[in-house]
Amino acid sequence: MISKKIVVKYNFWFNNYVEQFIQQYPGLSENIEIKADHCRKVGEEIVGIAQSLKLNERDTLLAKTIGLFHDVGRFKQYVKYQTFSDSKSQNHGELALEVLKENTVLNDLSGENQDIIFKSILNHSRAEIELDKNDKVIFFSKLIRDADKLDIWRLITEYYMVKEQKPARLSADKAGPAGGENKTLQLELPDSDEISGQVVNAIVNKKVVLKENLKTLNDFKLLQIAWVFDLNFNYSIKKLYNKKYLDKIFETLPISTEVDQIREIVNKYFITTMSTKRE
Ligand SMILES: [Fe+2]
Repeated sequence: MISKKIVVKYNFWFNNYVEQFIQQYPGLSENIEIKADHCRKVGEEIVGIAQSLKLNERDTLLAKTIGLFHDVGRFKQYVKYQTFSDSKSQNHGELALEVLKENTVLNDLSGENQDIIFKSILNHSRAEIELDKNDKVIFFSKLIRDADKLDIWRLITEYYMVKEQKPARLSADKAGPAGGENKTLQLELPDSDEISGQVVNAIVNKKVVLKENLKTLNDFKLLQIAWVFDLNFNYSIKKLYNKKYLDKIFETLPISTEVDQIREIVNKYFITTMSTKRE
């Protein structure tokens, strides 16, 4: 049965697992640390959502475990392929399951809890949640998808803002060609002015933007903005609104009629969803 003690053990295992990668690949430590920090923060974020829903202690601990482990496949993926792009490497949700299984991390838990953790991790990286007979799988998948998005917004808005301010943008010779860029965080997409029509159309029609259709960093920013339509809980939409993450992303996009159109759709969506009562 899941308990506080077991979750402490999971944290200990996770820190130790990450440390091995840092020791073995010091040249890759920056992005390893970024992902490890993301995992820990998603573990905290998901508890925030769980508490807003007044979940019991066991479900809250299960949620925290899913948060901590959802991206545990990222380390293997990164050292093997030096990318966070699943299409250029391997699905990182499947890799997470591989890591948890080969290290027998979850062996103390019941079969049902292991199943919920595994399926929620697989669902976090899918375009949409897969149907399942067990309602708990769907519920925890919704939790991890919201928590993950909230922390990615924190991470990428910090990154985009710093990147925009870097003198490298003005004088590449001083700061070097890479400047403040982290190619891996932007899935190696070029930071050109273009926005793909396919991505704009998907958002305008409230369809899921597929990562395979991204051609530029601007497309990726729009995909991250469109995540607002995929939030499941009131806590998440309120936090997104209060933290102004989307405004911060919009600030880094070029001025264009397409961007204006999307901004208007997003603003309307905030007004309608925040005035209707949900979970
Ligand atoms: Fe992930």
